[in-house]
Amino acid sequence: MLIVGNGGREHALAWKIAQSPRVSSLFCAPGNAGVEQVARCVTIAVDDVAALKAFVIEKGIDLTVVGPEGPLALGIVDEFRRAKLRIFGPTRGAALIESSKIFSKDLMARHRIPTASGRSFDTLKPALEYLERQPLPIVVKADGLAQGKGVVVATTREDASRAVSDMLEKLAFGQAGRRVVIEEFLDGEELTVMAFTDGNTVVPMAAAQDHKRVGDGDTGPNTGGMGAYAPAPIATPSLLATITRDILHPVVEALARLGSPFHGVLYAGLMIVRGRPYVLEFNARFGDPETQVVLPLLKTDLVDIMEAVVEHRLDQLEVTWHERAAVCVVLTSAGYPGSYATGLPIGGLPEGFESGDVMIFHAGTKRQGRNVVTAGGRVLGVTGIGPHLEVARERAYNAARKISFQGCHLRSDIANRALASVIGQPSVSGNGGRRG
Ligand code: AMP
Ligand code: GLY
Repeated sequence: MLIVGNGGREHALAWKIAQSPRVSSLFCAPGNAGVEQVARCVTIAVDDVAALKAFVIEKGIDLTVVGPEGPLALGIVDEFRRAKLRIFGPTRGAALIESSKIFSKDLMARHRIPTASGRSFDTLKPALEYLERQPLPIVVKADGLAQGKGVVVATTREDASRAVSDMLEKLAFGQAGRRVVIEEFLDGEELTVMAFTDGNTVVPMAAAQDHKRVGDGDTGPNTGGMGAYAPAPIATPSLLATITRDILHPVVEALARLGSPFHGVLYAGLMIVRGRPYVLEFNARFGDPETQVVLPLLKTDLVDIMEAVVEHRLDQLEVTWHERAAVCVVLTSAGYPGSYATGLPIGGLPEGFESGDVMIFHAGTKRQGRNVVTAGGRVLGVTGIGPHLEVARERAYNAARKISFQGCHLRSDIANRALASVIGQPSVSGNGGRRG
């Protein structure tokens, strides 16, 4: 098998896939210093589709798994399918649900999928006029892929106008910001629900909560994600059933009807407002860092699930989960999500990345001689597992605090919000799928 990507998500995927007795040999392109411990890393860039395809043919790879959105939006799945190569992930047409916010908003509007109300614009004047009439705060989003940075939650009209003109006029996000969505601000609790789907059957995973802001108490700029936990107590079985029925199924059906059936992982980023779910965004892949807390709870062989997806027989597989909880704390470089230094030696890393109930998933790391050094904004994701969130959190923080590099930053309040409501209670079976 081959995994495409080099983050913490891909390390978690590699760790879980390597456990499958059915996998004799696992590669990752390009991987990182942690992935190296479970897979053979090859230096091919994630967006070099031609080189990835040539590698897969040369090695006789049976199944390729795509981590990040970039290659999906480039059409890696379409290209592999044309060459009769098996690959886990959606086609370019189906991945539009992530790569174009306007496509996704239009689809939601047509199928009455609950989301923030909004409008799209490709010229400045009408966008600014529309802004004048909207209540504050207001949300401005670049249409295309912008690595999580293309969303501005503006509390003043000046900030909103600046965001719109940065995107439409100054092309701050290049082509991705040529069109924008201006949408209503939703105030509530965020929730991530990812689901496996073969274009027909939908199997939701344990619900997770990401922590997007860089600082404690949700302060500072948005990042790729500073930590996560699962299962999220707000995702009661009845809320998950609603999300599956009113959001996940309708999207999967709509894409199939458009002639672009979705295969892979559909990620719904939601805001729960007074008990009701609204879509903030869809992603066409596993979330990062959500994967680092959801996969450790998965009991079923992930390779069995991926093959069932690729072969359109997900309805015949039972997907089961451990009755446990997981918390992931991300260690980042000083300056992230802005600019940061790399190449700093990381101290305190244990021999293996996995020990008992702790997994140290590598994100931006690289081997340099005998040292492991920093190589990205998000450096490591330390996942603790336990019978419930409180123990999982303690294990994650105890392990994370032993690791150090110059300027290392972490949030000290991951999972606090969940614990404020459930301290002392056993883990919550927040899962719409079957649990065993
Ligand atoms: P997105 O990439 O669309 O998920 O947006 C990034 C982050 O911006 C989300 O995780 C939310 O915290 C915030 N956000 C996006 N859209 C809205 C909205 N309509 N109302 C409130 N917050 C939002
Ligand atoms: N954690 C957010 C994402 O994967 O897009």
